[in-house]
Amino acid sequence: MKFIIDGGKKLIGTVEIKGSKNAATKMMVASLLTNEEVILENFPNIGDTEITRELCELIGSNISQDGSNLSIKTPDIKNYQVSQLSRRNRIPILALGPLLARVGKATLPILGGDKIGPRPVDIHIEALRALGAEINFDNDYFYAEAPNGLRGAKIILKFPSVGATENVILGAVLAKGKTIIQNAAKEPEVIDLILMLQKMGAIIELGSNRTIYIEGVKKINGVVHKILPDRNEAVSFASLAIATTGNRIKIKNAVQRDLITFLSAIRRIGGEYNVEEDGIVFNRNGGLKPIEIETDAHPGFMTDWQQPFVILLTQADGVSVVHETIYEDRFGYTEDLNLMGADIKVFSKCLGELECRFCKKEFPHSAVISGRTQLNGGNLKVRDLRAGMAHLIAALIANGKSEIEGVEELDRGYEDLDGRLKSLGASIKRL
Ligand code: EPU
Repeated sequence: MKFIIDGGKKLIGTVEIKGSKNAATKMMVASLLTNEEVILENFPNIGDTEITRELCELIGSNISQDGSNLSIKTPDIKNYQVSQLSRRNRIPILALGPLLARVGKATLPILGGDKIGPRPVDIHIEALRALGAEINFDNDYFYAEAPNGLRGAKIILKFPSVGATENVILGAVLAKGKTIIQNAAKEPEVIDLILMLQKMGAIIELGSNRTIYIEGVKKINGVVHKILPDRNEAVSFASLAIATTGNRIKIKNAVQRDLITFLSAIRRIGGEYNVEEDGIVFNRNGGLKPIEIETDAHPGFMTDWQQPFVILLTQADGVSVVHETIYEDRFGYTEDLNLMGADIKVFSKCLGELECRFCKKEFPHSAVISGRTQLNGGNLKVRDLRAGMAHLIAALIANGKSEIEGVEELDRGYEDLDGRLKSLGASIKRL
């Protein structure tokens, strides 16, 4: 599937952001912890939730949807060996904890997801082993067992990995005894998962310095939970609003608290926003200024905001620097932007202040963006979800026509993207 875009149209209006992809998928997996019904409100209809739905159904969940409410109930784990998943994402590994808790065994597919670096899962595996799981894997599957059940442990993550933190939480809520996670991720999506689990009967506390305490309980109950709005969607549409003068987009349901670092960066480069009761309105009146940015774990500048932000920096007057410290290979998309007229050079040196894991390792993880450059339409292929969104924003502000191939990848994370863009005035066709 592809998008044909005629760039340069003014984009004005309101878009409503949906429930967070990176919370919804984990919450579906969390529902496997109970045999009672879980209702997820504000549920996004996107490729990644479809894949996760297939995973849960293969395991034994009964799932139905009424508007934006998803009902999911797993009376029994019918199948702990999942081999038939038709597509892959990053989620199956998170089902290890719930399956080990309920039936003591799990065979789950190795992960897929965006190609943005090697994306190892060593931290997950080490942490689950500390909880008492025996885990082996080959090229296709994880094979896990917990013959004596999972038991609480002190786990120090070597990096505050979002997925590994969630994995330990999902494993620890029904484990025997107490678990302490040090150097845990505290992204808003992780906190929302904790809020949901707390309502389901889990005992979880947040300590200082990235510490999370979990006291295992005997039973996890059903729940009705409203998924937090997707802050990455909010950033995508906000960047689009600020990319050219004359755009003005209200992002309904955008939450200021989850966007503090992004909003400050927007103000520093000369963008404008107004926080209203039910959302945030973005626009800009004058030119944009350059900036230095480093991506970091929350509450830092998120790695998923880097790509739309780089588009803004191609429109800023001067030289900007972006140091990507979360993923080692997340600037591939800038080659396509250069073909459209951008001036972006990528370096393997750390161009920033943060101590970065990729230092002296020859990973292309720092970018220097010289602006302002006029972008022209081009033929683009979506490389990964967020890079694809950056391509889309570039095409929407470019002179002339663009074709973007691989729209399925964008559909994994954004519901009805073309419909919402059309409602703002974009010229975009899906073929
Ligand atoms: N890492 C390891 N070993 C591990 C786990 C992670 O080395 O066992 C490394 C990764 O390779 C990466 C870094 O740690 O370099 C951060 O990875 P993390 O585990 O925090 O990321 P994730 O859980 O795989 C989630 C989101 C990503 C988002 C990151 C960072 C989901 C499904 N994905 O990934 O979102 O970029 O956290 O915030 O929640 C997206 O939505 O497009 C997306 C890529």
